[in-house]
Amino acid sequence: MRAINRQIDVYLKNPDRITFKTKELINTITNKVKSDTSGECLDIGCGIGGLIRNLSHKLKKYNYTGFDISEDLIKAANKLNKNEKINFFVGDVNSIDFDKKFNIICASGVLSIFQEFEVPLEKWLSWLSDDGLLFIAGRFNSKNVDTKILFRNNSKKKADWEGGLTSYSINTVSTFIRKLGFNCNFKKFIPPIRIKEDMNNPIRTFTRDLKNGEKIVLDGGNIVAEHFLVTIGKNIET
Ligand SMILES: C[S@@+](CC[C@H](N)C(=O)[O-])C[C@H]1O[C@@H](n2cnc3c(N)ncnc32)[C@H](O)[C@@H]1O
Repeated sequence: MRAINRQIDVYLKNPDRITFKTKELINTITNKVKSDTSGECLDIGCGIGGLIRNLSHKLKKYNYTGFDISEDLIKAANKLNKNEKINFFVGDVNSIDFDKKFNIICASGVLSIFQEFEVPLEKWLSWLSDDGLLFIAGRFNSKNVDTKILFRNNSKKKADWEGGLTSYSINTVSTFIRKLGFNCNFKKFIPPIRIKEDMNNPIRTFTRDLKNGEKIVLDGGNIVAEHFLVTIGKNIET
C-alpha cells in the first residue's frame, strides 16, 4: 500500500513552528536516552525537520538522518539546517532501506497514513540496533477496534483520496509488536491547549471541550481520535 499525504502546506507556512506533540515526543525520547550518549537517529516522514533540529540540541553527540516523500519539505528542511551532523533527503518509506542500524527511530504522524500497519512497522523495527528504541506519535484506539480511513479534502485544488486518519487499536498493535520480540508502552497525549478549527483547511485537527472538563480531538472528516506516544524496544518496561 502506498502512503500518500498531501497536507504539507501548514509546515511550509510555519517552518519554525514546533508543536506540543513534537515537544512531548522530544521529552519522551530524552527521558529514555542519556544526553552524553552517541549514536544514530532516524526520523521517518520528517517533514520540515523540526523534531531532528530540536532533538539535536539535546542529544548533541548523535548523527541524524531524516527523510520525507515531499521534495518541497526536504528542500525547506535543508535550507533551515545549519548542523553538519544532520542529513535530510527525499525518500519513500515504501521503497527505502538502510545498510546501517539506528539507536533511535522516530515516526510521528506517519503510521496512520498506511492502510496496513504491519509491513511498515516490521520494516522500521528491522532498522533498530539491538538496544535501539522506536518512538511513534500518532492516533491509536484504546478500545479494541481497528479502523481504516481514507479522506478527500475538497478544499484543495487537486482533491484526491488520502491516508492519515487511520487508527489501529492498541491491542492489535501491541500484540503484533510482542510477536516480533519487542515490548511497548503507550502514553496518551492530549494537547494542553485549545486548538481552533481551521476554516481554510477543514482536515486540520482541532479540539472541543466536554462538560466534564476533558478535551476531544477531532477534524473536518468528523473523526474523533485518541493520540498516543509509543515507545518500542526489546528491553523496555511495559
Ligand atoms: C502528518 S505529517 C508528519 C510530519 C512530521 N513527522 C511531524 O510530526 O510534524 C506526515 C509526513 O509524512 C510524509 N510522508 C507521507 N507519505 C510518505 C512516504 N511514503 N514516505 C516518506 N514520507 C511520507 C508527508 O510528506 C508528511 O511530511
